[in-house]
Amino acid sequence: MSKTATRAGARHTGSFDLNTYLEGRTAAVNAALDKFLPKASTKPATIHEAMRYSLFAGGKRMRPALCLAAAEACDGKESEAMPMACAVECIHTYSLIHDDLPAMDNDDYRRGKLTNHKVYGEGVAVLAGDALLTQAFEIVVRSKGWPRYSHQDIVLELAKASGSLQLIAGQVADLEGEGKKLSANELKYIHERKTSALLCCSVRLGGMSSNCTSAQLQALTDFGYNVGLAFQIIDDILDVTQTSEKLGKTAGKDTAAKKATYPSIVGLDKSRKIAQQLTEKAFDALKIFRGKAQALEALAEFLLKRDR
Ligand code: IPE
Ligand code: IPE
Ligand code: MG
Ligand code: MG
Ligand code: MG
Repeated sequence: MSKTATRAGARHTGSFDLNTYLEGRTAAVNAALDKFLPKASTKPATIHEAMRYSLFAGGKRMRPALCLAAAEACDGKESEAMPMACAVECIHTYSLIHDDLPAMDNDDYRRGKLTNHKVYGEGVAVLAGDALLTQAFEIVVRSKGWPRYSHQDIVLELAKASGSLQLIAGQVADLEGEGKKLSANELKYIHERKTSALLCCSVRLGGMSSNCTSAQLQALTDFGYNVGLAFQIIDDILDVTQTSEKLGKTAGKDTAAKKATYPSIVGLDKSRKIAQQLTEKAFDALKIFRGKAQALEALAEFLLKRDR
């Protein structure tokens, strides 16, 4: 193990128990999502079943966990951050349903189950994605307000991260990059947008729900940006190093689809090194929280070392 990874690993040998934290946060997020979404039997049942099928298929819930951990770092209440946490998970799940469509990455498995379009057909899968995206905005708009940030601020934050300059821009560039030899900078452009933007938005919204200061918001932005970039590099690495069973999605798809990825451009070792460096930068951004960002720190480390 490299020096960087050892140092990162040495940070959390103390009292913080990430497994217990994640179990608790996941259960709370699942319960809140269940309340926010129409029941599966609500007419038209097909769409509500399809939305719930992907949402409750067993995702890692990393964006909600990051959102709640950011709120905690800013002394916020979990109940005030929960609508944000649920909204980002709805947007993330929508992006996965559409990402898996035959017109995009054409994947048959996601979260250990058949993809949405394999079960419900392409038409309903497109609509389930649309509905989850819309649901996210309904959840935050219906929530009671937050002291320093208005509903307008929150909606703008979500809209910008998921819009045509960020998440969608990344997905467009990802599609257009298939089969091409991209530079490392062009690939970074894709990763910043398709993945880092929503991760960064997740921690920023957690902070905003907790009435964070502008200095805290900037720290969360730096943290989220770097963790988000590292996250997609690890995703690219896992695509070549893990089995489909472990990932719950088909491994080796990036090579098959001639996607530009970090391993394909700079190799596996250098990719790992870059992800470690980005995680170190993320740790540095947390100094301002003076020990209150234990959960964020543990999550960043976990995301670097994850195997699925
Ligand atoms: C997969 O995200 C898509 C990327 C942005 C790399 P996750 O790895 O967070 O997927 P789930 O939510 O656990 O299924
Ligand atoms: C997905 O990136 C990014 C978004 C869905 C916005 P990938 O295409 O690499 O994600 P996986 O590997 O299918 O989960
Ligand atoms: Mg994709
Ligand atoms: Mg994909
Ligand atoms: Mg991938």
